[in-house]
Amino acid sequence: MTQQTALAQTARLSRASGAKPNQPHDAPDAESFRKAMARLAGGVAIVACLDRGAPRGLLVSSLTSLSVEPPRVLFCVGKAAASHDPLVRADRCGLSVLSDRDSEEAHRFSKADRVAERFDSANWRLRPDAPPLHAGALIGLTGVISQRIDAGTHSVFILDVETIESREAGPLIYFDRAFRALGLVSVP
Ligand SMILES: Cc1cc2nc3c(=O)[nH]c(=O)nc-3n(C[C@H](O)[C@H](O)[C@H](O)COP(=O)(O)O)c2cc1C
Repeated sequence: MTQQTALAQTARLSRASGAKPNQPHDAPDAESFRKAMARLAGGVAIVACLDRGAPRGLLVSSLTSLSVEPPRVLFCVGKAAASHDPLVRADRCGLSVLSDRDSEEAHRFSKADRVAERFDSANWRLRPDAPPLHAGALIGLTGVISQRIDAGTHSVFILDVETIESREAGPLIYFDRAFRALGLVSVP
């Protein structure tokens, strides 16, 4: 569909629904938006980097596969997060997609008052020459941060993946404001 056809179709749909084209809609309030997004189920990962030799990281649900050639993922980090600026400074980072055995790790990396104890667990592989990775991660990715895109309150980071490891385990899912294991029920 060309852009013109799409615009004409949008205008037709707006007229049919009684809304005037090009008239801004009322923005949804923050609580309605949060409530709606809480119903979006998804896996969670810990993004971690080294900042002047010290490990820094946080929990994200914004990890998304971007392309296969080249192998790229993206994730978004709020500018208020303590790890935001370290990630802006870092050349490389690691992404540890959590398994359903690691809800405790998920809590530690998503609560601001637990920032000091985040890398205390023996599960972290900390080396001076590589981004931190969780040894029990369902998927561990490391790579080069190739782009940082300003998106208002957040930055979007694009990671060119260099190393991949994976393990047999169930994923940790965040849904309806709680961490859950996946019910392995197939639907046709
Ligand atoms: C399930 C879940 C998903 C989250 N996803 C993101 C995310 O994608 N990006 C982000 O910036 N913060 C996200 N957060 C919030 C951060 O993990 C949280 O604010 C954390 O404390 C920020 O790190 P800091 O304490 O080092 O500032 C998420 C929190 C939870 C519970």
